[in-house]
Amino acid sequence: MDPTNKPKGSSPHYSLYQREIFRQGGTEGKLPHFSVHPDELVESTKKKLNDRAYFYANSNAGLGWTDKANREAFYAWRIIPRMLVDTNVRDLSIELFGHRIPAPILFAPIGINKLYSPEGELVPAKIAGELGLPYCLSTAASNTIEDVAVANDSGARSVASEGGNYCQVRAGSNVNSPRFFQLYMGHDDEVTISLLERAWKSGFDVCMLTVDTWQLGWRPTDINLANYVFYYPPGTTGNELGASDPVFMRKYGEELKQDSGKWIDSSVWHGKAHTWKKIPWLIKEWERISGGRPFVIKGIQSAEDALKAYEIGCEGIVVTNHAGRQVDGAVGSLEVLPEIVDAVGDKMKIIFDSGIRTGSDIFKAIALGAHAVQVGRLYVWGMAHEGEAGCRHVMKSLLADLDITMTVAGYPSITRDVNRKALKYNENGAYPRGEHAKL
Ligand SMILES: Cc1cc2nc3c(=O)[nH]c(=O)nc-3n(C[C@H](O)[C@H](O)[C@H](O)COP(=O)(O)O)c2cc1C
Repeated sequence: MDPTNKPKGSSPHYSLYQREIFRQGGTEGKLPHFSVHPDELVESTKKKLNDRAYFYANSNAGLGWTDKANREAFYAWRIIPRMLVDTNVRDLSIELFGHRIPAPILFAPIGINKLYSPEGELVPAKIAGELGLPYCLSTAASNTIEDVAVANDSGARSVASEGGNYCQVRAGSNVNSPRFFQLYMGHDDEVTISLLERAWKSGFDVCMLTVDTWQLGWRPTDINLANYVFYYPPGTTGNELGASDPVFMRKYGEELKQDSGKWIDSSVWHGKAHTWKKIPWLIKEWERISGGRPFVIKGIQSAEDALKAYEIGCEGIVVTNHAGRQVDGAVGSLEVLPEIVDAVGDKMKIIFDSGIRTGSDIFKAIALGAHAVQVGRLYVWGMAHEGEAGCRHVMKSLLADLDITMTVAGYPSITRDVNRKALKYNENGAYPRGEHAKL
């Protein structure tokens, strides 16, 4: 099986979504149902969800200083607009692990999506399929690997009659919607291998190992609510990957019946760190299972660790601090991106996340050398409002924002034109406080 896809042409002009919204308002009196301004979006999410769901999505480590540092880092970089540039044909597309994708955006792995919408991960997986953007499934998901794959393909298929989602139809009957699998690695290797085999069989063709969360960070707003869905009755939400896994169930099924935390506490957030020594084994196993598809480490925040990841054979890294949910008082993820790019940017793919809220944020991360970005909370907030429609609206808005930023700032091609020359660092730029400081 060749899991890659080939380009179909330059990326769509996502900016047209703006015109569609204006036209629907002007001619039919139809307005968007909720604001996509990130400050307002997070506020209205609070009204849509119960406390447990809202705080799980929005909790941060400690005082939330890392979350703030993530946003401050974006504020310090400013885009230099260029005029009278021919931006009439724009190309936001990139190549990532053999996939040609229409924009440099991935759906970040986010656990327990049933907290936000009854269908859980099926929602963003389907929307990612529609948009042709890679979907990354979390080990802490609340739908099975197999069901998510079907939803992801169904999204891609649903737009096939309109010329497809930019990704090519795979050999055979499958629509090729790129999807990656995020692994939380427990200490039972048999279970790890079983998860990877299932993911590969279901068309997830990149393994993304998260290394910053063997243990959940100290998140006061979750502590206050004893916010751990796995221990609450009925005790099934969030256990879906384990409860559907033949190896896990053969070995621990009885224990799971007695203790609804068995899966999460032993295979996901088990509190027992792995070290660099274990990674070559995992890379080899993934290589054996997938025939050599890419292996990526998620959680890198230093050039030294990025180099180690390269040296042990990773094809990529995710520069992320888990949206500021793990270490409080840590560096902003964008702050460390330039030094990591300088160390390994020409050797491996760099995916960036933590704090992306707008098109200009994506522009800045790419200009600093990321090859692609991941978006997490934004799509959660969208699905919390209106399931599929909400998730679609938020992601199409983000794409429109990026496309419009490219045209009004005078940068037609994401890979050719968006680089460090497009930015200026403002060392003394005061981050806005008070009323305007929510972002
Ligand atoms: C509610 C929530 C759940 C998350 N769950 C996971 C997860 O299961 N696995 C993982 O690797 N990262 C997880 N992350 C981190 C995201 O993959 C990503 O790194 C982060 O959300 C990106 O920052 P952003 O939300 O500001 O876009 C989670 C983040 C949030 C906000």
